[in-house]
Amino acid sequence: MSEFKFHAPDEYRKNAWIKTMDEYKQMYDQSIEKPEEFWTQMADQFYWEKRWDSVRDYNYSISKGPINIEWFKGGKTNITYNCLDRHLKDRGDQTALIWEGNSIGEDREISYKELYEMVCQFANVLKSKGVQKGDRVAIYMPMIPELAVTMLACARIGAIHSIVFGGFSADALSNRILDSLCKVLVTSDGVMRGAKAVPLKGNADTAMDLCEKQGHLVECCVVVNRTGSEVEMKQGRDVWWHEQIQAQSMDCPVEWMDAEDPLFILYTSGSTGTPKGVQHNVGGYMVYTGITFRYIFDYHDNDIYWCTADIGWVTGHSYIVYGPLSQGATSIMFEGVPNYPDPGRFWATVDKWKVNQFYTAPTAIRALMAQGEQWVEKYDLSSLRLLGSVGEPINPEAWKWYFKHVGKERCPIVDTWWQTETGGIMITALPYAIDQKPGSATLPFFGVNPVLLNEEGKPLEGACDGILAIQEPWPGQMRTVYNNHERFEKVYFQMFDGYYFAGDGCRRDEDGYYWITGRVDDVINVSGHRMGTAEVESALVSHKEVAEAAVIGFPHDIKGQGIYAFVTLNVSATPSDELLSQLKLHVRKEIGPIATPDIIHFAPALPKTRSGKIMRRILRKIATDEFDSLGDISTLADPEVVGSLIENHKELT
Ligand code: PRX
Repeated sequence: MSEFKFHAPDEYRKNAWIKTMDEYKQMYDQSIEKPEEFWTQMADQFYWEKRWDSVRDYNYSISKGPINIEWFKGGKTNITYNCLDRHLKDRGDQTALIWEGNSIGEDREISYKELYEMVCQFANVLKSKGVQKGDRVAIYMPMIPELAVTMLACARIGAIHSIVFGGFSADALSNRILDSLCKVLVTSDGVMRGAKAVPLKGNADTAMDLCEKQGHLVECCVVVNRTGSEVEMKQGRDVWWHEQIQAQSMDCPVEWMDAEDPLFILYTSGSTGTPKGVQHNVGGYMVYTGITFRYIFDYHDNDIYWCTADIGWVTGHSYIVYGPLSQGATSIMFEGVPNYPDPGRFWATVDKWKVNQFYTAPTAIRALMAQGEQWVEKYDLSSLRLLGSVGEPINPEAWKWYFKHVGKERCPIVDTWWQTETGGIMITALPYAIDQKPGSATLPFFGVNPVLLNEEGKPLEGACDGILAIQEPWPGQMRTVYNNHERFEKVYFQMFDGYYFAGDGCRRDEDGYYWITGRVDDVINVSGHRMGTAEVESALVSHKEVAEAAVIGFPHDIKGQGIYAFVTLNVSATPSDELLSQLKLHVRKEIGPIATPDIIHFAPALPKTRSGKIMRRILRKIATDEFDSLGDISTLADPEVVGSLIENHKELT
């Protein structure tokens, strides 16, 4: 299978934006050799109230001074003007968003004109609550149209949105609100999950209380009525969305933003410490997400495009909302889950809306693959022209299944490698120009200059295995960690001077194709959700019975990686099934259900060096059953401990 290369059918190539490898190479070379010229041509396709003074300015080397990345400096624009206003004349009645609700038959088509009006109206609500340019607004919502409306309303008036995935706990939400001192929180009464309504406002209340205890007052909480569940509304703070919009006009002038003004903050996990507030700025992010969207998904007028991500993650920000809307696309927003009411839901939805481009995550593909192809075969998927994958390496088995049963061996698959930090897709096939190999993200997008480094930071040539880094900025790159530029420099630029350090390992083959091999740091990827092992550890040790914890990722058939926690207890505590459930619950409360450990191993002790450092390398080997390659354990303070860990592990699995 690794030798297999897929060349998309000519019938699709005819109308493609980029038709051949030669065309790709020519544009790619121009983008690298003359980046300013290339990105000027791209940025010219957007509306600017005032043109920029310089295309890019940057310093990528800590040794030369502070890290600095600027694109289109001096330019003034507004991303919502580009996503909404400029389409009104020609496509006001065209559907901008198709909302496919949780239950079958529950849907809504929202035209560009309607979306424009909804955004203006809510922007006026925000203004009436005193929100001004530069203020932070937290958003904690399910996948309902009001979520997209809130983002765009913030962007329209220059407020900075900070979306917190609805699956995060009250604690996680409060930490994020506090870090950026959000003034307003927009949420909903509840979330529909399968056949049930799950409360959400209660979490928001707890989070706001926690903030208040820390001395930060969320001034206003706007609540959307989604499930009709009972909620407490705190007088003077909480208001209903539907009541607030009534009095507001459907006109709201845009705030002209500097290209380098912040657009949003999105928290993401790293190796150490609390999640970082990744900050993206207006101009570069707008250009990069719009352009990548158009070329990579080969989007043309009248296409129906569907990205199944949650807007709580970067994929939803860039490729459900901003990228598609700036290109005047019709983008589907799906509230539900892949297996409700049955495992045919994705395919029924593709059939229902005649979807042309479908973009999802390997974990979803693996889960659906396990249910059998009968769920796919029931539906007419002939509208599909392109498939996409994102979030983690796609294993060739899943690739093959996706290709065969969903794409019917005629649709190219774009395996897109990127990160919250990169704003948009970095390494990917262009579907009709670059042939695909299962499991490879293939080649860099325009303007992206990847290098593979060895451990000393020396660039490697030709076919090789190394650490993925990027030379020179691209417009969609994050600009800083919100309020903590030093951390930004330290995490991404200190390791290898002069390069952006991505945190992934990567192989390059003889054709120059890139194969992402996974993280080289202590970040794990569970069902495409990125998590710092340190975060889960700190959640575990905050339980009163836990003395120490070491968390690692292990291969998991469906999730890609599962969470394996080695836990030592305080002397007063004894391991039991009850304590095990308690610990799982505790992590859910501290972070959220996505961080629940799959395996908790009550360990008598952890393997440590004589200086007291936990030897994770050994734990990783134990968790993956590689007992024969533990390496040198003689440097351990107590080598005996390894034997008992192996015994316990065998009993557990
Ligand atoms: O390890 C890489 C993996 O996901 C990480 C980024 O996670 P996050 O910031 O949450 O963004 C996910 C969606 C863009 C990367 O460092 N990753 C993402 N896409 C791929 C991938 N690994 C392999 N192949 C991919 N296509």
